[in-house]
Amino acid sequence: MPEDNSRQNIKVREAISSMGFYDPPLENRNPEEYILMDFNEPPLPPPPEVVENIAELLKNRIHAYPIYGDFLEKLGEYVGVPNKSLLLTNGSDQGIDLILRCLLEKGDEVKMAQPGFPMFRQITGTLGCAIDGPQFSRDFRFPHQELKDSVNSKTRLIVVINPNNPTGTAVSLEQIEDLLKTFPYIPVLVDEAYYEFTGETCVSLLSSYPNLIIIRTFSKALGMPSLRLGYVIARPDFIKHLQKIRGPYDVNVVAVFAAREQLKNPEHWQRIVKHLLEESKPALEKYFDQHQVKYYSNKTNFMLVEPPDPVAACKYLKENKILVRPMGPPISHTFRMSLRMMPEMQRFMEVYSRFLDT
Ligand SMILES: Cc1ncc(COP(=O)(O)O)c(C=O)c1O
Repeated sequence: MPEDNSRQNIKVREAISSMGFYDPPLENRNPEEYILMDFNEPPLPPPPEVVENIAELLKNRIHAYPIYGDFLEKLGEYVGVPNKSLLLTNGSDQGIDLILRCLLEKGDEVKMAQPGFPMFRQITGTLGCAIDGPQFSRDFRFPHQELKDSVNSKTRLIVVINPNNPTGTAVSLEQIEDLLKTFPYIPVLVDEAYYEFTGETCVSLLSSYPNLIIIRTFSKALGMPSLRLGYVIARPDFIKHLQKIRGPYDVNVVAVFAAREQLKNPEHWQRIVKHLLEESKPALEKYFDQHQVKYYSNKTNFMLVEPPDPVAACKYLKENKILVRPMGPPISHTFRMSLRMMPEMQRFMEVYSRFLDT
């Protein structure tokens, strides 16, 4: 179509017009066609009763704004904090958005070890701010001292993803405490999206460090990425400011209902976590060891794999109906794959063996 120059396009803010898209490869991700190892998703749905009860709930709720009842109290018991220290968000992506919008003025800087979860860069960009930080080392060690050294007078936020996506790097409680203590006037945001896999959290530091903010999600171990539920854990005075930005109904009633069920009956998702960590992961690592495939072990439900030709590996897997995630620079020598239940892991190993024979 010829360009219509007779009218001006809508003029958007410079920060937005000059930035690129965060465009994860979502098209054609049909779970009936492919084994999905590309988005760190849970391998199985919540128990069937949860899905049935959602259908029942919706009979009377679609036409009313959501009510959340005592869910924050239940979540507070799970996290170990008073409910005033919690804010529900529409996925932890929204938590990142709210926190950055609350803290950053145009021109401020965010420090985060690189590479990290791309939404941080995307949201920082929308605010006309910059995000950078030291690279993880070649063996994906956390660049603790380098991160501290990178902080300058424009730094308004430090982000620590623990464990980091995509490298799987764990950050110790001592390292987090050191950042909080060294920079008492800079908020430190710790993203614990994979907490249920590691069991390691810095919630205990909240009582000593008012500059600590934590985000978590129900999208990973808790099994419900499509429903979009995350939460922020912070001191009540900061939570109050975030409440001014988040809409009162941004979290839908189905997400809260399903989350309540998952917290009430954790055996199902805990069994899945145990299976992934105690069966799928050791089997995959043993297989890679036996076949001299380089990988980076960690405590999450995903790992980076370093084949001689990652592009060919991802292409072969896709042709054989397995999706993994090719990584961009500076780790384009790797691809990221999620752990699945054993039958699917076995299928991966069969296909990968055929790839190694090509
Ligand atoms: C480190 C990290 N933070 C946040 C998210 C976003 O999760 P949510 O589905 O809660 O928006 C992800 C998702 O992959 C992640 O890996």
